[in-house]
Amino acid sequence: MSAVSRRLARGAGYALLSVAVLLALAITFTVGWRPLFGPAKRATTDQKFASTPERLQRGQYLVEHVALCYGCHTRFDAKGRDTAVFVAPKGSGQVMLNQADFRVVAPNITPDSVSGIGNWTDDEIGRAIREGIGRDGRALFPMMPYESFRNIADEDLASIVVYLRSQPAAQSNLPRTKVPFPVSRLINSAPRPVNAPVAAPDPNNAVAYGKYLVETVAHCGGCHTPRDNHGQPLPHMALGGGNPFSESGVTVVTANITPDPSGISYYDQPTFLQVMRTGHVRGRKLNAMMPWWAYKDMTDADLNAVFAYLRTVPAVRHRIDNTEPPTLCRLDGQKHGLGDKN
Ligand code: HEC
Ligand code: HEC
Repeated sequence: MSAVSRRLARGAGYALLSVAVLLALAITFTVGWRPLFGPAKRATTDQKFASTPERLQRGQYLVEHVALCYGCHTRFDAKGRDTAVFVAPKGSGQVMLNQADFRVVAPNITPDSVSGIGNWTDDEIGRAIREGIGRDGRALFPMMPYESFRNIADEDLASIVVYLRSQPAAQSNLPRTKVPFPVSRLINSAPRPVNAPVAAPDPNNAVAYGKYLVETVAHCGGCHTPRDNHGQPLPHMALGGGNPFSESGVTVVTANITPDPSGISYYDQPTFLQVMRTGHVRGRKLNAMMPWWAYKDMTDADLNAVFAYLRTVPAVRHRIDNTEPPTLCRLDGQKHGLGDKN
């Protein structure tokens, strides 16, 4: 399987996640009134984010290299190459999940006034990103990671919006998201308004800043935290790996990136930087489902902060090896290399 077709599987992987999310929601949100009354939301304001060179630069960095917005909001090609290759204009959207009755579309987020967000106000865009509310007031399907993004700092949110607005408008002709009942109601419990200012952590505090990057902006746990068979993230296994991503019959599961001997306790800072920059762990090439090709342009300071934080998370004992034949793992319920050793 070529590198890019593996990368394409990112879409498929996210699609698998979405089914997981769906199940999680069905279990979690069977109580409460939100399903009947619609999502919690605040009214938008006419706040505008001024475009500055600093915001444009910061916005590009966050969108393309940390939050990986285009990893979902753009179609990839399937012909072998080693970095991400978009076959459509960046941000023009793609269908992420398409089943008989259930379709999830990451929409066009370019400034096109018809198919994109050209006519949205800045606050409507910001509210969608952090609070999970569409322009029409509906709850966005939580495959859009707003539950992580809700802690994006105000200034970073402004930079993201300013950057999105600066990009070329692209037209697209995508179907709309269609979520079947009762999930369509259950997801109303996911959005939560952000009513207070959100400050960025001190960049000189590597652990705190790394936490912000890992948990909020890059949401590494979206791929690296395993889920139970109802799709619910397993909090005691946070960042412990095990989510499967499949394409063309090849499945890889995410790695355990906690400081356990079964995880990456053997990494030091230079090793981590090298992995994130080259996609190689010493002699081993990582599957391109791990988006190192986007993270490789993160600054040394940010990657070091990510590593500093990863050193502080609880160690999870969970053996995984994608080079070994898959066996059933009783910890995450998945089949993966060394699963039977857990
Ligand atoms: C894991 C995949 C994923 C990532 C990463 C992601 N999104 Fe989304 N996004 C979605 C999906 C799916 C939807 C549509 C949900 C729906 O229709 O209910 C969406 C919806 C949106 C919307 C609402 C658009 C509309 O027309 O309703 C905006 C704005 C948006 N995303 C911006 C962003 C930005 C900015 C980033 C990065 C900071 C980002 N997204 C990262 C999957 C993703
Ligand atoms: C789209 C899903 C996805 C996201 C997002 C993601 N990863 Fe990964 N990551 C993977 C997969 C899949 C693998 C396993 C690849 C393999 O074994 O070939 C992996 C492997 C790794 C490895 C290699 C571990 C080893 O030695 O085997 C590291 C380190 C890592 N990821 C760190 C991170 C960090 C840090 C983040 C957030 C900044 C992150 N990943 C976000 C999917 C993801």
